[in-house]
Amino acid sequence: MNTKPFITLGIESSCDETGIGIYSSQTGLLSHTLFSQVEIHAEYGGVVPEIASRDHIQRAIPLIKDALQESDLSLQDLTGIAYTQGPGLAGALLVGSSIAQSLAWGLNIPAIGVHHMEGHLLAPLLAESKPEFPFVALLVSGGHTLLVEVRSIGDYKILGESLDDAVGEAFDKTAKILGLGYPGGPALAKLATEGEVGRFTFPRPMTDRPGLDFSFSGLKTFARNTFAKHPDEKANIATAFEVAATETLMIKCRRALEQTGFSTLVVAGGVSANTTLRQVLDAMGEKMTVDVHYPEHEFCTDNGAMIALAGHYRLMAGQSNNDLEVAIKPRWNLEELQAI
Ligand code: KG4
Ligand code: ZN
Repeated sequence: MNTKPFITLGIESSCDETGIGIYSSQTGLLSHTLFSQVEIHAEYGGVVPEIASRDHIQRAIPLIKDALQESDLSLQDLTGIAYTQGPGLAGALLVGSSIAQSLAWGLNIPAIGVHHMEGHLLAPLLAESKPEFPFVALLVSGGHTLLVEVRSIGDYKILGESLDDAVGEAFDKTAKILGLGYPGGPALAKLATEGEVGRFTFPRPMTDRPGLDFSFSGLKTFARNTFAKHPDEKANIATAFEVAATETLMIKCRRALEQTGFSTLVVAGGVSANTTLRQVLDAMGEKMTVDVHYPEHEFCTDNGAMIALAGHYRLMAGQSNNDLEVAIKPRWNLEELQAI
């Protein structure tokens, strides 16, 4: 039998990374290309939305060409286009959405808008050892901290979320307080390896009461006050912050696993690249006989491969939303998605 594969092009442009991925129904991920704007925004200390949109416009087409070339494909080989429809920065989302919808229209193939966090959530399915449904997902990025009950693709129930700062945001803000620049998460994690565990003890917010919601803004304040008193102990403060943040996440994951009775945990989003978090969750998994899955490192932070994958599943299920009005969803609740 020689059926043609279904080939999905994925476009990610929700924030400060332009990511392209090409996914085949027969052989999986064929290629992916990425441009990170991190250095462009660094001098402003955070993402400047207008600059982000303009840069996506410049990068997207060359990155699509590169990804096609790497896969040895031409535009005409594509059978579907997936793009991040939300949540994210409106201008940035408009770039990817317009390109995706125009390409789909020109090629006369289906387009599908993907929820950015569903992309993160499914990224571990790009790995060789795939998580089995149902599972609890811990999504930890710069904009979101979510605990999700996942019964199948698209069947998402939010069990808990951050009431204030997302955990990635707390890493970034704490890093800024310590003068580590932007984006601070990886820099803070690096400095934390040099600190002494136990020199300072930060609180584990909201773990002393029932429930699965988070609050991380207090940790940043704790870091600021400790730094004011001990300006020479940056590394110890970074360690105290990281230990408190990761242990808080672990305590809530443990609770969510106990509550659902599930025996698989999926951890995804930018902060899932954090080594200490992986160590703490792996130790918990071993104790509870729970399988813990992470995306490969390159697919923890924003990328086009996860959007191609999520779009692939939805297109294969017959869903599409070709739309010449280019509707984006800068705010979009994960629970509104259709199960497939
Ligand atoms: O998923 P992502 O690339 O973008 C969003 O959808 O927000 O996540 C970016 C976040 C940033 O806050 C960044 O500081 C954090 O992930 N991050 C890390 C690490 N790598 C990225 N935080 C802690 N440790 C890391 N190794
Ligand atoms: Zn993201």
